[in-house]
Amino acid sequence: MKNIVVLVSGGGTNLQALIDAQESGKIKNGKITCVISSKADAYALERAKKHNIKTRVLVRKDYADSVEYSKDILKALQEEKADLVVYAGFMIILDELVVKAMPYKMINVHPALIPSFCGKGYYGLHVHEEALKKGVKVTGATVHFVTEVCDGGPIILQKAVQVHDDDTPETLQKRVMQEAEWEILPQAVSLFCEDKLEVKDNKVYQK
Ligand code: GAR
Repeated sequence: MKNIVVLVSGGGTNLQALIDAQESGKIKNGKITCVISSKADAYALERAKKHNIKTRVLVRKDYADSVEYSKDILKALQEEKADLVVYAGFMIILDELVVKAMPYKMINVHPALIPSFCGKGYYGLHVHEEALKKGVKVTGATVHFVTEVCDGGPIILQKAVQVHDDDTPETLQKRVMQEAEWEILPQAVSLFCEDKLEVKDNKVYQK
């Protein structure tokens, strides 16, 4: 059974999707053992506590720089014996020392079809604002391995979502979450825990 540690910063609806998937038996060979938040008041922490999942808080602004913060995050991940780390609305870009210590053991959910609307500065609602500004007709979500390149790691799963003419960033965000993120994130987590993912030449294949 793999230990899954989830990193969060906000509302935690993706964490909730993982908890629900776990409770209905959809995550095979893995268990959420700890939730680490970059914010003390993140609602995601309440969601974890309601389900008796251990929580830890590491606030970015308590640290002088990204390296010091990242060292403590890595220490926490090691203490929790994390086999898989899931970024579920985690809004901090960690220093590469973390990913180097855990290569292809960290995955992220991004609210767009990478390589569109991704990279530094593209997070949360901003992603949907940019998609609407551009007038794309289809957007979606991506789950990928975390590497040193922001939103640049090998893609595990993607799902497309229609954009409507009358969408606001908020309505689009909600549809992308409901139709894509909450579906593909638990799927990718289960595939990882079942050892069904293989990375070759920067691409992911299902075994
Ligand atoms: C989600 O849409 C997630 O994909 C996005 O923030 C939202 C968090 O919601 N993450 C990023 O933009 C990271 N680059 P949640 O806290 O309710 O899961």
